[in-house]
Amino acid sequence: MKILILPGDGIGPEVTREAAQTLQLCAQRFGIEISTEEAPFGGIAIDERGTSLPDDVLAKARACDAILLGAVGGPKWDNPNAKVRPEQGLLGLRKELGLFANLRPVKIVPQLIDAAPIKADILRGVDLLVVRELTGGIYFGKPSGEREGANGREAVDTCVYTEEEITRVLRASFELARQRRKKLTSVDKANVLSTSRLWREVAVRMAKDYPDVAFENVLVDAMAMHLIRRPRDFDVVATENLFGDILTDEASMLAGSMGMLPSASLGEAKNSLGHPRGLYEPIHGSAPDIAGQDKANPLASILSVGLLLRYSAGAEAPADAIDRAVGQVLDAGWRTPDIAQPNTRTVGCRAMGEHVRDALSRG
Ligand code: IPM
Ligand code: MG
Repeated sequence: MKILILPGDGIGPEVTREAAQTLQLCAQRFGIEISTEEAPFGGIAIDERGTSLPDDVLAKARACDAILLGAVGGPKWDNPNAKVRPEQGLLGLRKELGLFANLRPVKIVPQLIDAAPIKADILRGVDLLVVRELTGGIYFGKPSGEREGANGREAVDTCVYTEEEITRVLRASFELARQRRKKLTSVDKANVLSTSRLWREVAVRMAKDYPDVAFENVLVDAMAMHLIRRPRDFDVVATENLFGDILTDEASMLAGSMGMLPSASLGEAKNSLGHPRGLYEPIHGSAPDIAGQDKANPLASILSVGLLLRYSAGAEAPADAIDRAVGQVLDAGWRTPDIAQPNTRTVGCRAMGEHVRDALSRG
């Protein structure tokens, strides 16, 4: 397997280093041959190459079997008037590779139930999967930008969805629901937005083809509430790009910390192994405030490696082994600061990664 590693900015390089080493070890143990290559991406690529997604890096992304990404962005590149932004690279990569389905599993780890800011009895048993549409909607619609209007400066963003874009991400969502608890919640704002009305129409029509999947529509504002009031009720949650971005940050609180949530972005393209060529990244950002201090939680990135092995290598056993190793480390009481609790032992990013690898070696 050829893996492209894009550490990016802020805590990206620290967490990705732990994840990459975990991947190496896991591959070794399970006899998967991998080669890795690192490339500049995001703010660091702007500094070094003048663009957040250099052409040769994009070419490498197209040629590899899977991508492990850290995080992009930071105050250094935050000037609102800047011509190039780290986030453009991330959006460009998702779009260019056609990674329209972003899978964000949210599962409460029993060991962290008391570390989460929500009451334990609400969290027990939470196990949901948000499927976020990733290459359409208001993130990509044109026109977008600032302009001179009749009353002076104005800015515009455009939300547009084709029936085909909606259909393909919902198909993936229904199929995933079939492999899980057979429930799909489609989230929209159909009482206000045209794109949501088309989304809902397609969803309701498709639901007829999946009679074995319990289907419901929920408005996004109500969903924001249900997610913290009765998160156990949800299995697969499918939604458009912007709603998915917002709801998954909220949902991360159900898992204890943003530092715990991995993600997989998949499209139609297959890799040399015949599995989807995916992009794997934590849902968290670059956390510039703690970057370079060995305080970041590498578990979201390590769990992303698990998803990489599961989806892009079709290797269930190594993926399970990673999940199990993370569980064992938490059982043993090791915590990064973001998930620290009374009577646990706080460690840094690096030590956390080492503990996971120790657990993995023990099997
Ligand atoms: C995410 C992030 C990105 C997004 C940013 C960094 C552009 O918040 O992956 O959720 O909005 O998609
Ligand atoms: Mg986000």
